[in-house]
Amino acid sequence: MDILHNSGLSRAQFGDDFEWGVSTAAFQIEGSHDADGKGLSIWDVFTARKGKIKGAHHARTACDFYNTYTTDIDLLRELKIPNFRFSFSWSRLLPNGTGVVNQAGIDYYNKLIDYMLQCGIEPWVTLYHWDLPHALELKGGWTNRDCITWFTEYAELCAHHFGDRVKNWMVINEPSVFTGAGYFLGIHAPGRRGLSNYGKALHYVTLATGAGGRVLRRLLPDANIGTTFSCTHIEPASNSVRDVAAAKRVDTLLNRTFIEPILGLGYPVADLPVLKNLSKYMQPGDIEGMAFDFDFIGLQCYTREVVKASFFTPYVGAKLIPAIKRKVPFTEMGWEVYPETMYHILKKFSAYKGIKKIIITENGAAFPDTVVNGAVNDVHRTKYIQDNLHQLVKAKNEGVKVDGYFVWSLTDNFEWAEGYHPRFGLIYVDFEIQKRIIKQSGHWFRDFLSENKDNKNEDSLRYTGHR
Ligand code: BGC
Repeated sequence: MDILHNSGLSRAQFGDDFEWGVSTAAFQIEGSHDADGKGLSIWDVFTARKGKIKGAHHARTACDFYNTYTTDIDLLRELKIPNFRFSFSWSRLLPNGTGVVNQAGIDYYNKLIDYMLQCGIEPWVTLYHWDLPHALELKGGWTNRDCITWFTEYAELCAHHFGDRVKNWMVINEPSVFTGAGYFLGIHAPGRRGLSNYGKALHYVTLATGAGGRVLRRLLPDANIGTTFSCTHIEPASNSVRDVAAAKRVDTLLNRTFIEPILGLGYPVADLPVLKNLSKYMQPGDIEGMAFDFDFIGLQCYTREVVKASFFTPYVGAKLIPAIKRKVPFTEMGWEVYPETMYHILKKFSAYKGIKKIIITENGAAFPDTVVNGAVNDVHRTKYIQDNLHQLVKAKNEGVKVDGYFVWSLTDNFEWAEGYHPRFGLIYVDFEIQKRIIKQSGHWFRDFLSENKDNKNEDSLRYTGHR
């Protein structure tokens, strides 16, 4: 099939109000890690530690978005993508995490936001995409309950400076991933391990999510406020009682532990008994403090996991069977290509009464990209996106309130512990010379967005004011 011209999809199927965009994160694209008064983040420190990042890569330059953001925003405009999700770097705004404000950081994000609006591109901002100020880590970071107060101060600052122009906010990005990888397994910043670090981080991040939502609502009553969760479709490896029970525990850990307290349901202790440990960190009022009535929930889904019972894995008694062992197609991350996950996850989360609206705030894939005669024909990524969109529209047609889809990511970027090897962008980056090439997937997305619709960003210079 000619997937470029014959995907069987049209923008009109998704409705006029459906939000289309791409997602990024400050640490993965900005670079300029110590420019103009920025403080170090835990990722600046972690990437400098030996053996932590594949290829000893670091993000001191990354995509150089700090210096060349106008070029990338121009590309967004060229691709006719109307919404851009990015995150604020906490330590660029508050170098010590709290206290003294870095005016150059405020100026930078003002310029970025103004330029986007000038181009007719709507900002969707994430307050926290994993780059905690290192100064706060020295005081315990997310394992210190004070982090909720520090985060509240930071959220107030962002609302105060950017809330006049930014209408769409996300409080925290994928708490399950950064607490699990950064505080339990030690494979992400800040590289801490163990149940006690994990339990504290999990609980305080969840409280900070509720607190952040309340700050934004109080200061920006008209804003569209959400928060994002990573989610994965889980299946047992067999129908045996043990595998089914193991799959339920993994599903609880990956898909339920973080959202249920936000929805006011508390932690799902009955289905994952190790969560009882969290009671050690609970204080009166925490159940209410974790809950917040978000306008939307951002779901980020990439793959499915198949689970087998295992006596040797502590706390969950389960192991994941990698895609390679199951002999199914997989991406550069080793993640199974399984678009049906999109459908299953949308159905699962829409069953929660407390979720008003879902936006897919990340979906995408890393495949080995090669430049041939100046072009990148990333047919697998194009197909991955199309197949996921088919699953999304299937769920939408069955009544799921899903109102947006953001591709991860605009450009290839720094993929955390994996360094620069896995490429997720619609735009290829030659990191040596910072050259960009729009991939086939980017061209397809532009054509898809141009179809049957007046583009929101085309010729619509909604905002022309400069600061
Ligand atoms: C994160 C991104 C990451 C992407 C691909 C999500 O977990 O929010 O920062 O690059 O997935 O791994």
